Amino acid sequence: MTGGPQVVLVGPMGSGKSTVGALLAERLGAVYRDTDADIVAAEGREISDIFVEDGEEHFRALERAAVAAALAEHEGVLALGGGAVLDAGTRALLRGRPVAYLSMDVEAAVRRVGLGAARPLLAVNPRRQWRELMDARRHLYEEVASVVVATDERTPEEVAEAVLDAL
Ligand code: S3P
Repeated sequence: MTGGPQVVLVGPMGSGKSTVGALLAERLGAVYRDTDADIVAAEGREISDIFVEDGEEHFRALERAAVAAALAEHEGVLALGGGAVLDAGTRALLRGRPVAYLSMDVEAAVRRVGLGAARPLLAVNPRRQWRELMDARRHLYEEVASVVVATDERTPEEVAEAVLDAL
């Protein structure tokens, strides 16, 4: 496939997609883009408000459209929201793309993100919710990934380096 992002980052919230994405962009001399930010800009409201006002299904449809637009227009580094892989249409858009999955274990997730006030899916009992979320999503991240990079024992710089090595 020609054109499109040099690398697409997927992985759970808190796995470091935006930090690693910015480092990768710097290393590649490329521009960083993030579909969460695209959605907020297009909608003129926060993602948590979209969830509350219109529900997750509506958000996933907005997200699918944002991913399609970014894949068509953007040639740098692209990070997707943590739940983008839940949507089969979004997963189909990622086929044949250079996709790096930043994996993170449950304890690291609880430590790094915890309750995450701005993150609507983690309102109560973060450890149990993280376990359920990871169990439901792990195979979907793996399905779209062309490379998996574990983030638990690595600094963002080391994760970026591992992504570059694997591309
Ligand atoms: C979500 C992750 C968020 C954002 C939304 C839903 C999820 O993105 O898209 O709150 O379902 O895991 P980040 O992974 O960038 O925090």
